[in-house]
Amino acid sequence: MKFLSSLLFLVASTSTTFALPTTVVTETGVIENKIAIVDRQANVVCGSNSYTSSQLTAARNSAANYLKQGGTAGGSSYPHVYNNYEGFDFLISGTYYEFPLLKSGVYTGGSPGADRVVINRSGQRAGEITHTGASGNNFVACSGW
Ligand SMILES: *[C@@H]1O[C@H](CO)[C@@H](O)[C@H](O)[C@H]1NC(C)=O
Repeated sequence: MKFLSSLLFLVASTSTTFALPTTVVTETGVIENKIAIVDRQANVVCGSNSYTSSQLTAARNSAANYLKQGGTAGGSSYPHVYNNYEGFDFLISGTYYEFPLLKSGVYTGGSPGADRVVINRSGQRAGEITHTGASGNNFVACSGW
């Protein structure tokens, strides 16, 4: 049981492709050990919101398109420069831009909520941050990057 729960933790927390051995009984009754390849996408969690990599990609792509075309979403100011006063150790170098990350759909203006994707001008992923759990107007890092 201890082993099972560690295994489940591993499955839930990793983003790398890894192999799980499975036992397969063939038509002739021969038992074969096969390797099942499991590709589990890690979720990014901001406060209590969990995001799949396709949700993150959709938000980043939208932000990158606005940057490329010189506009913003609806009447909002997003995407706009994010100065990283918090000093996050992002995946890439800046200049950084923040764009709202919504639980449902892609941001098109209005209330930005608490969660953000951060990219650079090339649309590369810097990381994800949230106001949830931060003091004042600060951000904390989402988990998963
Ligand atoms: C965005 O980040 C990537 C990866 O670090 C880098 O190669 C690229 O030059 C950056 N783009 C800009 C516009 O800074």
